[in-house]
Amino acid sequence: MEFIGSHILSVSQFDRTDVDTVFAVADKMLPYAARESITRVLEGAILGNMFFEPSTRTRVSFGCAWNLLGGEVRETSEVKASALVKGESLYDTARVLSGYSDIIVMRHQLAGSVEEFAAASRVPVINGGDGANEHPSQALLDLYTIKKEMIAQRKTVDGLRIALVGDLKYGRAVHSLCRLLSLYQDIHFSLISPPELRLPENYIVDIKRQGHQVQESADLHSGIAHADILYVTRTQEERFPSKEEAERYRGLFRLNQTIYTEYCEPNTVIMHPLPRDSRGDAMELDDDLNENPNLAIFRQTDNGLVIRMALFALILDVTSQIEQISRPVKWYIGGRCHLS
Ligand code: NCD
Repeated sequence: MEFIGSHILSVSQFDRTDVDTVFAVADKMLPYAARESITRVLEGAILGNMFFEPSTRTRVSFGCAWNLLGGEVRETSEVKASALVKGESLYDTARVLSGYSDIIVMRHQLAGSVEEFAAASRVPVINGGDGANEHPSQALLDLYTIKKEMIAQRKTVDGLRIALVGDLKYGRAVHSLCRLLSLYQDIHFSLISPPELRLPENYIVDIKRQGHQVQESADLHSGIAHADILYVTRTQEERFPSKEEAERYRGLFRLNQTIYTEYCEPNTVIMHPLPRDSRGDAMELDDDLNENPNLAIFRQTDNGLVIRMALFALILDVTSQIEQISRPVKWYIGGRCHLS
């Protein structure tokens, strides 16, 4: 794909070479994200970080990724703080905001809304999550994490066995990840969900058409038994027709250290797009896993920085200038970062 000046709306835009390009640029970003060096390649540029739906890590990491490249961030973090509540159309909002920014990251609760917004925007738009549809930057950081975790175990993404657990119907991170993984060879998908929250049929058809294996189950214990990666998700309560309906699935699948030890292979890597629901009656990923070295959830969030930096650098065509406009960091660096 052509990165320069492009919108990033769906992982369907990427082939394997494009994914490799993003990962190679992400690797170049490691010294900047780990605060070893500073680059100012985007000095003077403005990011419009437009989040019309709740977000912590996606919003903040896109903002930090931009700051780490030297740019300034302007953001809105609530629909009620924007003119959309006054009846303004996505078209008008996009026309206005794209006059103020060099690039826009946008999240919205309606599937397809980011595409509609991008069509009216005068600058590139990155999809930060549109309803239950897609979350491309999350899938890229997940795949980057999977690749690193597999390399550490002398395995490859080709031949991966992944178990996806929970709300596979409304989980956009799962939807984008399944599509991206399908670019690889011989993937085994173990899909674990209640029947009502299965992965939508069109995703299953696409995965199978590309030659991968799919096994569906409503049983956590058997479903996680032979997996390299366990990708656990939260029930997407906000997307259910009613709160009562969402309540039915709360706490249905709970992974804790005892279940992990009993049913998983010893080096199964545990991932989650976060936030995990840590309320007592949910706990899809128990706190007692926090010291498990195979818990990769905070490696995922750290990796989100370099992936988002890479997307900005590729879209704005500054990858070759980063090292030229770089200098060492002078402040104290604690040992807080997983990036290497
Ligand atoms: C996910 C999302 O918003 O789709 N969170 C994230 O961006 N890391 C998953 C979720 O909210 O459960």
